[in-house]
Amino acid sequence: MMPPETAKLGASPSDHYPDIPPVIVDKWQVIVDTLAELARVPAGLIMRISGDNLEVMISSHTPGNPYHPGESECFINSGLYCETVIKRRKELIVPNALKDKRWKNNPDVTRDMISYLGLPILWPDQTPFGTICILDNAGNHFTNVYRRLIQQFRDIVENHLQLIYTDSERQRFFTLQQESQEAALRLSEERLRSLQAELECASRLSSMGALAGSIIHEINQPLTAINASAEACLRWLGGNTPNVAEAREAASRIFQFGQRASETVTGLRALARQEPARMAELDIHGAIHEVLGLFEKERVRYGVAFVAKLQPDARHVVGDRVQLQQILLNLIRNGLEALAETSDRKRRIQVFTHRTEAGELRVSVEDNGCGIKPSQMKKLFEPLCSTKADGMGMGLSICHSIIETHGGRLWAEPCSPHGTAFHFTLLETREGSVPG
Ligand SMILES: Nc1ncnc2c1ncn2[C@@H]1O[C@H](COP(=O)(O)OP(=O)(O)O)[C@@H](O)[C@H]1O
Ligand SMILES: [Mg+2]
Repeated sequence: MMPPETAKLGASPSDHYPDIPPVIVDKWQVIVDTLAELARVPAGLIMRISGDNLEVMISSHTPGNPYHPGESECFINSGLYCETVIKRRKELIVPNALKDKRWKNNPDVTRDMISYLGLPILWPDQTPFGTICILDNAGNHFTNVYRRLIQQFRDIVENHLQLIYTDSERQRFFTLQQESQEAALRLSEERLRSLQAELECASRLSSMGALAGSIIHEINQPLTAINASAEACLRWLGGNTPNVAEAREAASRIFQFGQRASETVTGLRALARQEPARMAELDIHGAIHEVLGLFEKERVRYGVAFVAKLQPDARHVVGDRVQLQQILLNLIRNGLEALAETSDRKRRIQVFTHRTEAGELRVSVEDNGCGIKPSQMKKLFEPLCSTKADGMGMGLSICHSIIETHGGRLWAEPCSPHGTAFHFTLLETREGSVPG
């Protein structure tokens, strides 16, 4: 077993400590040279611990000096003078090893170094760095003058270590600080990115919520119709004389309404996934009639006249059919809601298609309802702008973004004497030819 103090020494690897810069090495060379010269001895040394080894770091340029820089020896239990200095952490004087049974067999004696004066050198954190020593090839009592001298030089060396150590600590601190700043920066960038993603998701979800609201409403209609038709179908098939023709009629209505509901769901799914619009050539007249058909029940219940004035040669457009129908749904629903309080005139919603002079196809949805206050006009297409108690204020903003992806425009204007007109433009194609 190693003695405890030896274990501690071996556990202080020098690579945890900064290197000694050449400019300091030069100064230390001057120190050991001067020391050996003044003490008139063949060897002045600065020894450095390197792992378990003790290495000649600086050796005085003096005649008869048997030590050379770079030589190293495992110093644990070596019996070297320096080993004792490092272990005890205090000055050691050996005036004549040959006359001292404790020292006469130590390795330095084989180099004829029989007297020794050495001091430990410590890092600022009190870990041993090595030793500073002078050795003589004759008996030497090293008077107090030399002891003071070597102490002075040792202090200078330790001051140098302090400087190097502080500087490296500072640099390490700066590096750490820099690294932590960079890490913080990276972290905040990451946070920003995930926040953006969250926001995008949230805004998509809120549009989704509004859209889902309007779509659930739309889906309810075909579902109710499907139920009614299914009931009718069963009735026609029941009884003593089943009416197959009527039953077939009812079944085909079920199929149509089912189709409509599933298209709406597909559209919703596409929007939810933010799938790109599925652009295709389509007949906007057909799309308009279909949407108007969806409001049939409400039209009857609220006594609203639907008028479709569709210009025959303004019908072929490029767009995503389901998304364009979403726009029509929202605009017509808004129109119906604007008519809710109207009782002094015949309630009416008109849908127009028109080819503009600029060659665009314009679709307009006009009502003669309550109209929009001029102050509200500016914010109309902003999300969450609603004057309704249970309104989400998302319908028009969704319409706006759909139209944008279609490369068109959407705007509103007051109608005279009552109501509001919403217009949107689409790219028109000649029948059978899709541009681009
Ligand atoms: N045809 C219309 N007539 C009068 N006001 C309308 C009409 N269409 C939209 N608005 C106004 O614009 C607001 C926003 O409409 P919208 O985005 O569809 O949200 P919501 O219908 O949920 O309120 C409505 O609350 C209403 O004040
Ligand atoms: Mg609305």
